[in-house]
Amino acid sequence: MPLAAVARVARHRVERSTDAGRTISRRSIRPRRPRRGRTAVVVESSKDHRRSSKTSPDDASRRDGARKTSSVYPEDVSDAFDRAVSEEGRRSIVEVTNVDELRERARAERKQLAATELALAAAVLARKQESFDSMDEFCSYGYIASVKGVYIDVSRNEVPKGFAQTASENFAREMREMVAFIDPDLDESDGRTTMPKELRVKLEALRLDSDAIWEREKNRPEVPAPWLLKAPYLALCFMLDKLFDETKPVQRFWFLETVARMPYYSYTAALTFYEILGWYRGGAELRKIHFAEEWNEYHHLLIMESLGGDVSWRDRFLGQHAALVYYGVLILLWFMSPALAYNFSELIEAHAVDTYAQFVDQNAELLKTMPAPRIAVEYYEGADLYLFDEFQTAREVRTRRPRIRTLYDVFSNIRDDEGEHVSTMNACQKEDAAVSSPNSVNAKTAAISALITAQYVFTRFAEIRGGLGGELLDDLLVDDAILDDANAGILDAILRAVDALFL
Ligand SMILES: [Fe+2]
Ligand SMILES: [Fe+2]
Repeated sequence: MPLAAVARVARHRVERSTDAGRTISRRSIRPRRPRRGRTAVVVESSKDHRRSSKTSPDDASRRDGARKTSSVYPEDVSDAFDRAVSEEGRRSIVEVTNVDELRERARAERKQLAATELALAAAVLARKQESFDSMDEFCSYGYIASVKGVYIDVSRNEVPKGFAQTASENFAREMREMVAFIDPDLDESDGRTTMPKELRVKLEALRLDSDAIWEREKNRPEVPAPWLLKAPYLALCFMLDKLFDETKPVQRFWFLETVARMPYYSYTAALTFYEILGWYRGGAELRKIHFAEEWNEYHHLLIMESLGGDVSWRDRFLGQHAALVYYGVLILLWFMSPALAYNFSELIEAHAVDTYAQFVDQNAELLKTMPAPRIAVEYYEGADLYLFDEFQTAREVRTRRPRIRTLYDVFSNIRDDEGEHVSTMNACQKEDAAVSSPNSVNAKTAAISALITAQYVFTRFAEIRGGLGGELLDDLLVDDAILDDANAGILDAILRAVDALFL
C-alpha cells in the first residue's frame, strides 16, 4: 500500500505542481540525477513514460537540435528535465524567470566561488609548507613505491605485463638488491636518502618495546582459541620479535601488514571456490566485507612503504614469501573449518592492536611532530569512504571519520582499524550470526524507516480525510498546502529512498 501510494503521490505532484497559474515548487523542477542503469527520474510514472516515449520524430529532432545549440547541460539532465516537466510547466518557468538575470547572477557567484577556492588553496599550501616540508616527497621512500608507484600516482597506473615478463623483471631487480644486501661494499637502493634529514632522524628514533606488547596482551581479556591455533600464533609472534628489534618498528609493521592481507585474500578465494562449484551463495556479502578489510590492510601497508618499511631486501624477501605460505595455509584451514580460520585471524588482529597501541603510546610526542603520509590522508579523508565504512561491521556507517594531521593520527587510526578487524573476525566465528555489510544494513534501515514514515504519513492523511467529511484521499495528497507545510520533505525523502532501493 505505501509504495503504490508513493507512486501515486509522485505522479500527481508532478502534474499538479507544473499546472499553469500555480506556484512552481523548486523540487518539482529540479531534475534528479539518474542512477547508473536505473530509471532516470524518480517521479516519472508509467503514464509519463508512455507519454514521453510517444513523442513524435519532430519533437525528438527539435529537442536534439536544442541540445546541439546548447551544450550547457548534459543530455541525461536534459532528458530528465524533459520527462519530469510538462510543456505547460516549462512555459510557466519561462514566465516567472529572467534568464539573463539568472545567468548574470550565476556568473558573479561562480567568480566569487573561484576567488574563495583560490584563497583556500593558498591557505592550505602555506600551512602545509609552514608545518611540514614537502609532504608529497614524504610519500615515496619505500622501495616498492619508488620502483612501482602506488595507485594515487596516476601516471604510474597501467595494465600489468604478462606473468613471465613481470616475474623476470622483478627477479632481475631484486637480484641486484640481494647482491647489494650480501656485499657490504655495495648499498641497497634506499628511497630514504631523499628524505629531509630532520624527518629521517625522527623516524630512526622511533622505538617499539616487544616486552611491553606481551605485557599488554597479558592484561587484556584473552582471545579464546585451541592450542592448534595458539601454537603457530605464538611462534609467529616470537619470530616477529626476533626478526625486528626495537629500533625497527616501521619494518616490523611492514612485515605484519604484508601478511595481514593474506587472510582476506584467502577467505575471498575460498568463498569464490564454493560459489564456482555452486555449493554456497550466502557468502556474497561476506566477500564484500573481506575485500573492504583487505583494502584497509593494503593501505596500512602503503603507509608503511611510504615510511620506508620495505627498503631492505631481506624484509621484502621474508615478508613476501611468508605471505605466500600464509595464504595457502589459510585457504586449507578455512576449508577445514571457517570458524578456525577466523579464530586464527582474531588472534593475529588482537596482537596487531597491542602492537600499534604500544607503539603509539611509546612514541606519542615524537609522532605528533611528524607529518602524515599523503596516502594516509587520501585513505582516511578521501571523498569516497564507502570501503572504509564497509569493513567496520561492528559500527554504523559514517560514525567514524578520522582527521589525519600527523603521524600520531595515522598510527592511532591504524590501531583502531585493527580493533575493528578483531570484532569482525570474532563475529565471523558465530554460526548463527549473519555478518552484514554496514552499508547494506544502512540502506535497508533507511528503507524500513522510509516505509514506516510513509505509513505514518498516509495514516495521518486518512485521519484528515475523515475529518473533512470523506473527500478523496488523492485530492488531499496532492494539495500543495499540505505538501509544502509539513510533508513534502518527508515525501521527497521517501521517493529518493524508494528510487535507490526498489527501482
Ligand atoms: Fe593492518
Ligand atoms: Fe588487521
